[in-house]
Amino acid sequence: MNENSPIGVFDSGIGGLTVLRELLVELPDEDFIYFADSKNAPYGPRTVEDVTALSSRIVQFLVDKGCKIVVIACNTATAAAVYAMRKDFKVPIVGLEPAVKPACLKTRTRHVGVLATEGTFRGAHFKNTSDKYRKYVSLHLEIAKELVELAERGVFSGNEVDAIIEKYVAPLKQNNVDHIVLGCTHYPFFRPVIERVAGDGIKIIDSSEAIARRTKDILMTTNMMRTENPHRTVSLYSSDSPEKLSLIANAYLHEQVTIEGNVNI
Ligand code: DGL
Repeated sequence: MNENSPIGVFDSGIGGLTVLRELLVELPDEDFIYFADSKNAPYGPRTVEDVTALSSRIVQFLVDKGCKIVVIACNTATAAAVYAMRKDFKVPIVGLEPAVKPACLKTRTRHVGVLATEGTFRGAHFKNTSDKYRKYVSLHLEIAKELVELAERGVFSGNEVDAIIEKYVAPLKQNNVDHIVLGCTHYPFFRPVIERVAGDGIKIIDSSEAIARRTKDILMTTNMMRTENPHRTVSLYSSDSPEKLSLIANAYLHEQVTIEGNVNI
């Protein structure tokens, strides 16, 4: 393994593509291998043991492919498994958590909405971060569970999406939030609808840019960043239909990807 080795990225499904998009921009000379565990999505309602076991098999798969670093592009898998992965594997493991801190620092109304999965809300990261700001900021939490399933089906707009987003955003508006944190990597696909339903005066934020910068920082400070690569590769694997993944990836990423096919983990 050296600086020319690829970066591994995974999620319970296609959600991590919203993180991969930022990684591709931030790290233009790196090769990437993305794994979408769509067969086992959603992770949100699964137990910690279950998500840890799945994450472990995926990280092993990425390490076997020679990845020099693994990005867990999933809030739920980070909440359940990041410490175990760091203990069990030698490569650096980057996790992500909902952007609660920046929202709490920026809010003027001192009310912040957070959309995430139940697994993320249950996790220690979320509890620790929200406890720090609890005295000054009220967090209003919603588990927008249908959005993961809609995204996995490739449905990103239309009446069904509007109705579900209104159901979760309306109580946040009633609570006078001025920021909504997208705490699940599947949700940024719905950003245009969420912005429309939220209306002016409510900012929507997610963690994808921050995690891309964090990954770059680790690579730079450990002398593992690749700086020259005229034909970088972005290889995608899925535990479910690779066709579906290919369709969404080609529409969402501004780059040519290779679909390597279906892998059973
Ligand atoms: N995309 C994931 C996250 O960021 C998980 C969604 C799910 O599988 O429930 O939490």
